[in-house]
Amino acid sequence: MTQKEYIDKNQERFLNELFDWLRIPSVSADSKFAGDVKRAAEYVANKLKIAGADNVSIEETAGHPIVYGDKIIDPALPTVLVYGHYDVQPSVPDNLWDTPPFEPTIRDGKIYARGACDDKGQVYMHVKAFETMMQTDSLTCNVKFMIEGEEEVGSVNLGTFCRNNKEKLACDVILISDTSMIANDTPSLDVGLRGLTYMEVEVTGPSIDLHSGVYGGAVANPANVLCTMIAALHDENRHITIPGFYDDVLELSAEERAAMAKTPFDLEEYKNELKINDVMGEAGYSTIERTGIRPTLDVNGIWGGYTGEGSKTVLPSKASAKISMRLVPNQNWEKIADLFTNYFQQLAPPSVTVKVTRHHGGNPYVTPSDSPAYLAAVAALKESFGKEPVPTRSGGSIPIVALFEDVLGVKSILMGFGLDSDAIHSPNEKFGIFNFLKGIETIPLFFKHYVGG
Ligand code: BES
Ligand code: MN
Ligand code: MN
Repeated sequence: MTQKEYIDKNQERFLNELFDWLRIPSVSADSKFAGDVKRAAEYVANKLKIAGADNVSIEETAGHPIVYGDKIIDPALPTVLVYGHYDVQPSVPDNLWDTPPFEPTIRDGKIYARGACDDKGQVYMHVKAFETMMQTDSLTCNVKFMIEGEEEVGSVNLGTFCRNNKEKLACDVILISDTSMIANDTPSLDVGLRGLTYMEVEVTGPSIDLHSGVYGGAVANPANVLCTMIAALHDENRHITIPGFYDDVLELSAEERAAMAKTPFDLEEYKNELKINDVMGEAGYSTIERTGIRPTLDVNGIWGGYTGEGSKTVLPSKASAKISMRLVPNQNWEKIADLFTNYFQQLAPPSVTVKVTRHHGGNPYVTPSDSPAYLAAVAALKESFGKEPVPTRSGGSIPIVALFEDVLGVKSILMGFGLDSDAIHSPNEKFGIFNFLKGIETIPLFFKHYVGG
């Protein structure tokens, strides 16, 4: 039987198995789901075993477990390590979902569920592609799987696991499906990921909430002050004002920018899809450049004072915000965290105190587009889509990818099959059945072109 015949024959079962996995709410951020996270790890470990993997284990960490499995057909052959994550983002706000987040439903050929695209659906393509290669006797090299449960909370324990298991994880290339492609008729390969520095700030004024009439205008209002401080982080050209912030940014050459400008992109369609009247960003750069090659700073959440029903006249004692910065080569996330901390402290007027804390982070990453593995991915996509893939730079981050390079000395191939419109992290996350099956079809072609093609 050919791979294609095997996939066609079994596609309904593949989908049903994915659905069972999606029903497990493996939300890593919320400890109330810790048992479900564990069950999701066990589910995929078992499926790897059934598919034919050896040495399948659930590796405990200080946080959520890591699932490992491998198939070494000949130690002399190259080894591909497949990385992905089985944890998902919280589903809140649940009332905005058309169908419940953990009851996968098919509408218009798409699977709706939290994790459908990010990343359970994409990890499951690899499990089923592996099964397909095993069942059709067509696996051409060694394969290892490492599927973690903490990607959505910064992969805080994965670095330690990698440092402690260098031998076990030894490989020639890492293959990851956790990004998106341009469109179902326009395959693409990510050649870059942005890095991330995630901070939290707290501004404190008076020690207790005060009457805003008795004291307002005479005592610093931390909410007002926080807004002023945040506003000062950008200038009128939307450049970030933190001194030294751009020092290490790798500027692209005119040729590289011209090549990037050829990426298929329709601004009107983009605005319509997002239901926005206009875009906004750093002066002098296109939308694709603003998310692909430029660093950015965003408030992810802001709070303080009275936010309940009706009104309460109060001058809050404290106000806070969560602020992330997306980084590009060659910025370093820890250096940026320090620059941010110093500058933010300096911005504070003497009437308040400011506490700045650092959450997680990771460095940016680039994939060379001339390696044998990259060329194998190009050939695989070309064979399955009938079109040459477009190299793109993703605005998102997978912080562990830069660490893989540092610790394991191995580059990653970012071959994602989702779409930007799949609403990952949002209500009504989805993943096309076309995309799921196309991934299962394309992954074995990557192996074929990488070894023995
Ligand atoms: N799969 C995403 C990253 C991604 C999405 C890359 C779309 C390219 C296109 C990943 O699960 C993710 O959400 N990463 C987080 C970082 C993490 C530390 C929370 C992100 O980018 O915000
Ligand atoms: Mn992901
Ligand atoms: Mn994610």
